[in-house]
Amino acid sequence: VQLSIDSSAGRRIPDSLFGIFFEEINHAGAGGLWAELVSNRGFESGGSSTPSNMDPWTIIGNESSIFVKTELSSCFDRNKVALRMDILCDSESSSNVCPAGGVGVYNPGYWGMNIEEGKTYKVVLHIKSLEAVDLSVSFTSSDGMRQLASGKITGTSSQFSNWTKVEMLLQSKGTDHAGRLQLTTSRKGVIWLDQVSAMPLDTYKGHGFRKDLFSMLQDLKPRFIRFPGGCFVEGEWLRNAFRWRETIGPWEERSGHFGDVWFYWTDDGLGYYEFLQLSEDLGAVPIWVVNNGVGHRDQVATSNILPFVQDALDSIEFARGSADSKWGSVRAAMGHPEPFNLSHIAVGNEDCGKPYYRGNYLKFFYAIKDAYPDIKIISNCDGSSRQLDHPADMYDFHTYPNNANSMFSLSHQFDRTTRSSSGPKAFVSEYAVTGNDAGHGSFLAALAEAAFLIGLELNSDVVEMASYAPLFVNDNDRRWNPDAIVFNSWQQYGTPSYWMQHFFKESSGATLLQSTVQANSSVSLVASAITWQSSEDDGFYLRIKVVNYGSSAVNLKISVSGLSPNSINPTGSKKIILTSTNLMDENSFKEPNKVVPVVSALPNAATDMTVQLSPRSLNALDISLN
Ligand code: AHR
Repeated sequence: VQLSIDSSAGRRIPDSLFGIFFEEINHAGAGGLWAELVSNRGFESGGSSTPSNMDPWTIIGNESSIFVKTELSSCFDRNKVALRMDILCDSESSSNVCPAGGVGVYNPGYWGMNIEEGKTYKVVLHIKSLEAVDLSVSFTSSDGMRQLASGKITGTSSQFSNWTKVEMLLQSKGTDHAGRLQLTTSRKGVIWLDQVSAMPLDTYKGHGFRKDLFSMLQDLKPRFIRFPGGCFVEGEWLRNAFRWRETIGPWEERSGHFGDVWFYWTDDGLGYYEFLQLSEDLGAVPIWVVNNGVGHRDQVATSNILPFVQDALDSIEFARGSADSKWGSVRAAMGHPEPFNLSHIAVGNEDCGKPYYRGNYLKFFYAIKDAYPDIKIISNCDGSSRQLDHPADMYDFHTYPNNANSMFSLSHQFDRTTRSSSGPKAFVSEYAVTGNDAGHGSFLAALAEAAFLIGLELNSDVVEMASYAPLFVNDNDRRWNPDAIVFNSWQQYGTPSYWMQHFFKESSGATLLQSTVQANSSVSLVASAITWQSSEDDGFYLRIKVVNYGSSAVNLKISVSGLSPNSINPTGSKKIILTSTNLMDENSFKEPNKVVPVVSALPNAATDMTVQLSPRSLNALDISLN
């Protein structure tokens, strides 16, 4: 089998070809990347009516010692529900003595809080009481028996007669990955609580992102981030869709909402501002998916869509407006006076076929272009096999084949797309193998996806951007399978599909060289070649990527024309391979590195060389150029 590469014929790959797609699915953000430990911090996961759902808050004590209910008595207008605790026992009383440790409530977080020895946590809560207060605030082990850190809120009868914000730092003297936050007292009286938060101090730049998960994203060098979903943006019903205005400003004033597609409550600590901040922290172009009046089950008619259009324009002003503009000033007050570099808006998600989509889309398109001509607009309608009947800078393309072979064949999907210098380019914003071949993230799926991505590189004259989906799964709440990064309260690992993406992190902005594979039809091989300048060591490299999808080893003869033999530096060259003994091999918390890239030397690097490709393998040959 022969691979011929012409180093004199190349074209630039788009600067943002490979990025990531973050969706609030599988508790990716709430109970995931967003480091907030308290779940349902405002006691309103049932919505704004009372009684509201206080889950997973749990009462400590029994009917004779405490009575707890939710009430519309909060000081926050957008989330009126607060918790009222009537403490019936008293440690000083002779008749109804509180049990040891007191009574109150505890929050177990998202399947347990990760409380670690030596680490400091900031607890903030809002409290009201017309009596003297003596409240213990503590992190404990999962059974509540072992105290890991504790503080006290005490005050006279007048001190907390109005809602008061209390903050404290607690340093843990022990570790429990499934810990909980307890608020307890042994003093009779009535205490109202609202907006209770606990965050580790140690988040990425103090921006609230869980460090281990953030660094897994950073390691991918994503050039863009599409957010905040997917279906999450649409809502099963529009009333439950993501509404950016409700997610900005001080966290305690946010209403939170029930995401009815993935079926869980989010406090919206990870809101629109935080997504923009995340993009900036990752050095990735933000791609904001706006709801254009289309939910899964209801739609706003085009004749009534203008409030939604204005809402999108306001969101752009929030991101880009000057600090003295109406919405830019809100952003500035949140700590970011400089505008964010929002340059892309995706109008809707998977809604092309819906009756009002196109009409609504056009209203968004012209209004946004009028106010912000530079913003690139992405349509939901697929333009890969036919021309769009409406203007767009890009079109969204999602693919979830339910077997690996279909994904492998999709490496040719864009070969047939009509080339036009002015036509919209593809944004492959969701791709993954699903079904039995994918398991919980198999090596086989990753191999087929790698072939697909090589196909996208080769077609990057018509494909502008691509991202795997979904990005994250909290192992306790698998709403969608498979996913790229699996985590629980304290651990994390990448699936083979995560590691496969590492082979492409140098491609954006690199030069794609012309390459040709000559092989008979029994060989299933897909290959590409790029050159790029490394920002890490400033070196200049040629990377040849080859997927051997077949079950036999292949002797690949590679010849690179247009390079003098002495321009190659074999000692600085290496081979990276992703393969596994069994196609269905997966990583796990127990074996996080079962399927990961393995690096070895490439001493025979030359303009003409032969390499042996293992059966079923993804290979990168990084050839150092002088
Ligand atoms: O990635 C999971 C879901 O798949 C997304 O929310 C949706 O866009 C697609 O159907």
